[in-house]
Amino acid sequence: MIAPSMLASDFSRIGEEVHRVAEAGADLIHLDVMDGHFVPNLTMGPQLIKSIRSYTGLPFDVHLMITEPQAYIDAFVDAGSDLITVHIELEEQFPTIINQIKNSGVKVGIALRPKTPIAAVEPYLDDIDLVLPMSVEPGFGGQSFQTDTLNKIDQLHQLIQTRKLDLAIEVDGGINQETAALVGRCGATILVAGTAIFGQDDLRAAIRALREAASSG
Ligand code: DX5
Ligand code: ZN
Repeated sequence: MIAPSMLASDFSRIGEEVHRVAEAGADLIHLDVMDGHFVPNLTMGPQLIKSIRSYTGLPFDVHLMITEPQAYIDAFVDAGSDLITVHIELEEQFPTIINQIKNSGVKVGIALRPKTPIAAVEPYLDDIDLVLPMSVEPGFGGQSFQTDTLNKIDQLHQLIQTRKLDLAIEVDGGINQETAALVGRCGATILVAGTAIFGQDDLRAAIRALREAASSG
């Protein structure tokens, strides 16, 4: 599945951009929430997400890069999130945060920074819907894919098979046609892409090219 990251869209008309990318064949809408503490950038909050909720029926995939997610889960659920992903580096908030999200009736994912090992999320794999090994340092779009991520996707894929887990593997950062083929081959099931989609005039062709590259691997 392809999840366009709205971070690379035209923020001056973000609702229409959500509609445009949904019409072009997106599977999920990826929304990057940054607080200027967990990462050195600021983006959007629940109010903005709520304001664009009516522009598509596609699921909202909300990637929280904030230091105090527990304080905001209710607001992001109320804004219309379908899946909320939190970072494992906030380890003191686990496992409470997972239960808080699940009890709100939305799906839950765990993201890892590039340097965080898969072992950090292993204790939680039975309880979550998705793992997101970041393939760039979180904070900004347009960075280059870090190839170490491929080993992590491999490890996750093996864990899923041996433990028979019902778990999606999402990859985020530096995804283009070339890297989509690499991560697809390792078993990634959801590809986030900002620049590779919104940097193109023809969004439909860009999404299709990524999907085909990922399944060609
Ligand atoms: C980075 C964000 C990504 C970002 C990806 O912290 O999590 O979702 O938008 O952008 P590209 O696809 O341009 O690397
Ligand atoms: Zn993201």
